[in-house]
Amino acid sequence: MLEQFEQTGKDALENLKKVTDLASLEEFRIKYLGRKGQITGMLSRIGQFPPEEKPKAGQLANKIKKNVTSAFDDLKKKLEQQQAKPAEFIDVTLPGIEPDIGKTHVITQTINELLEIFGRMGFSVAYGPEVEDEWHNFIALNIPPEHPARDPMDNFYIDDNTLLRTQTSTIQIRVMEHQKPPIRVVAPGRVYRPDTVDATHMFMFHQLEALVVDEGISMVDMKTAINQFIHTFLGHEAKWRFRPSFFPFTEPSAEVDLLLTDKSGKEDWVEMGGCGMVDPNVFDAVGIDNEKYTGWAFGFGIERLAMRKYGITDIRLLFENDLRFLKQF
Ligand code: DAH
Repeated sequence: MLEQFEQTGKDALENLKKVTDLASLEEFRIKYLGRKGQITGMLSRIGQFPPEEKPKAGQLANKIKKNVTSAFDDLKKKLEQQQAKPAEFIDVTLPGIEPDIGKTHVITQTINELLEIFGRMGFSVAYGPEVEDEWHNFIALNIPPEHPARDPMDNFYIDDNTLLRTQTSTIQIRVMEHQKPPIRVVAPGRVYRPDTVDATHMFMFHQLEALVVDEGISMVDMKTAINQFIHTFLGHEAKWRFRPSFFPFTEPSAEVDLLLTDKSGKEDWVEMGGCGMVDPNVFDAVGIDNEKYTGWAFGFGIERLAMRKYGITDIRLLFENDLRFLKQF
């Protein structure tokens, strides 16, 4: 009987060697280790041994069962791993998964580019608050109380003396209050006006202000700086012009128009902003000697510059934050 046990164990291990897939492994399990399997059967036959042989038979049967079970388990693990392999296969020739890294908004990109261009021309950068008082938004800029620009219908007033700034020219005043000439700054920022929204108007937009104050500054300096800037930002073929205008804080004043050509080739002059020689009254307001110093300033619409550069025809696209639009820049 004991030899029979040994033989069954040997047969089982021999047969296990021939198993190469999980289906035949299952057949093997049923044949040897299942409830009616040969090795399981061995154990139930121990009762038939004479009492003095029982311990020996029991030990042998258990040893055989342990060996076969552990060989079975090893093979099972190996076969399962092999079967799982195809799913784990890495095709190194496939393109990688590109991580979605964010980027700056096209208006931020435009501001950065503008600041860089003016940085190269020797300008430093200044910022000012979006919630302003009447002094910086109007009075110091030579805009008297009866001026139509101060109408509550044209401004977002917070209280009698406080409003959302309507122009970055406020930063001119703030700079000149703290810094004496020579001054050479640009100031980007948001401005607010209760305009009806359409393809070219928004209740909030961005401006870039520039201010230069020194002895002997003339309109030639202003024209040169604007010309340099436009040609650097938009390319040398860009055409622009001065158009005589009026602003309370500059004398003389001009508006800057850019020539826009639409798809059909039709040309149109589009206003980009205003500029001029700083009015002596503004220097008085901030305590700068207007006999000694002269200066020029401009305020350009940043959305308009970006729209002209990238061929964007509706300002609303810039603020809807549709990724299909934003990802193009
Ligand atoms: N602040 C004016 C506006 O928003 C634009 C402007 C005109 C700015 C003339 C200037 C300037 O600095 O000199 O309409």
